[in-house]
Amino acid sequence: MIIIIDFGSQTTHLISRRLRQIGVECIIVTPNEAINEINKYHPKGIILSGGPASVYEKNAPKVDKKIFSLNIPILGICYGLQLTAYLLGGKVIAGKKEYGPETLIIVNQSPIFEGLPKNFTTSKRGFTVWMSHGDEVVKLPKNFTVSASTEKVKYVAIFNESQKIFGVQFHPEVFHTQYGTEILKNFVEKVCHLKTKSQLLNPDKIIEKIKEEYKKNGGGKVIAAVSGGVDSTVASFLTAKAIGKNLVPIYIDNGLMRYGTKEKVSFIFEKMLKIRPKIISCENLFLKKLKGITDPEKKRKIIGGLYVDLFQKEAKKINGANFLLQGTIYSDVVESGGSKGKSAVIKSHHNVGGLPKKLKLKLLEPLREFYKDEVIEIGKKLGLPDEIVFNQPFPGPGYAIRIIGEVTKKRLEKIKLADQILNDILKKEGFYEKIFQSFPVLTGIKSTAVKGDGRVYGEVVAIRIYESVDIMSASWAKLPYEVLDKIAKEITQNVPDVSRVVYDITTKPPATMEWE
Ligand code: XMP
Repeated sequence: MIIIIDFGSQTTHLISRRLRQIGVECIIVTPNEAINEINKYHPKGIILSGGPASVYEKNAPKVDKKIFSLNIPILGICYGLQLTAYLLGGKVIAGKKEYGPETLIIVNQSPIFEGLPKNFTTSKRGFTVWMSHGDEVVKLPKNFTVSASTEKVKYVAIFNESQKIFGVQFHPEVFHTQYGTEILKNFVEKVCHLKTKSQLLNPDKIIEKIKEEYKKNGGGKVIAAVSGGVDSTVASFLTAKAIGKNLVPIYIDNGLMRYGTKEKVSFIFEKMLKIRPKIISCENLFLKKLKGITDPEKKRKIIGGLYVDLFQKEAKKINGANFLLQGTIYSDVVESGGSKGKSAVIKSHHNVGGLPKKLKLKLLEPLREFYKDEVIEIGKKLGLPDEIVFNQPFPGPGYAIRIIGEVTKKRLEKIKLADQILNDILKKEGFYEKIFQSFPVLTGIKSTAVKGDGRVYGEVVAIRIYESVDIMSASWAKLPYEVLDKIAKEITQNVPDVSRVVYDITTKPPATMEWE
């Protein structure tokens, strides 16, 4: 197996995910636990993750230098590379910052780049890797060689072949790094000499696990928090298969969701699972609580809090309610600071961070360990129709975090209409299925327009459309100008009080997908 030492990167868990996908067992440990865990498990390889610190800072997380002399292959990623260089006598400075895509050029062949297309290794064309760093190695430790560079940074990939120590500045674990999985696979197979096999996600195993957890914790009714999205639907399907009619799906209609969501929820449960969902209509209550609130984290907390309160109220009405089922997936956990280690809290996603301690129900989260594409894979294996499996994800707090500033009934109507127009065009033009998320944002900025003969001092709508697989990294969709033109025209023409449409062309990182 492989041990991953977590220095707090947002993508540490993607490393474990990629290794799992390759078929290799791994565990994630903190830097302080590292030596003990290595002694306990005798791993065939060690990966040092990225992290937000700088190695030269006083409190930067470090690892015992001993790990470099255990004769176990090591791969340092981003901060892991910098720490390797620093601890072995190289020099790291606050250098040239790179965030997002860069072109990697291989300058010396290294085992981790073996088998990549030849022209990449012999010409200057290079391939795309994803960066997220502000520091740079400027002097190599003794006996290290550079194997790849970018235009700006020289020591992007380094290695010491005899000691089997490797380092890369980019993140091979993120989907947007071309050949990222191949690079990790090379490390696992060619350097650590581990055998790999593809492991399939097996719904039966997950159903067994739900049954066990259900029995162990006293059985009873499971209240499912459903939203019509793929996560909560897959979680409900798996649970329905495990416990049948003891599942009680509840949909809180808070008015912050897309047009038609309530109808979709009814269809999924009544028609497909033969279970009647409870639908709680409470748009006005949510609007009242959100009145005057502009801070995004406050919005999340209010929506999350109210959501949980309403569930508790419903739970009391249900005889024998014991569990609350949620479709929380791994990226929710990681990005809410729920993983071990030292990740920075970026956003407190309501379905994890907003849950108050007073919750009286036991939490059932069967998808907590899975990433979005794995959930989709499980959904397909369960036989769910494409409209559900390939439904674009929608954030728990809904439009509230796409309306910058105060959420009002009028602004909700405005964003719902803009969203419908945008996604109808994308569907008609054949782009909807190819992208990960596409949505309008009410920016709260006013600008002048002329509609008819009158002056309109209306709101600027930003359009965010991007491609992603694992949610942790994303690039904006390069749509044809004619499609963008159509979107701008139809939204300004049909949505009242909109003066202008702009297109967001920022990658993640650095920008998150949602604006708030
Ligand atoms: P960010 O904006 O963090 O979004 O890059 C990553 C993914 O998470 C969704 N998102 C949320 N989902 N509660 C959720 O359930 C939230 O508070 C929340 N904020 C963002 C976002 O739509 C994207 O798919």
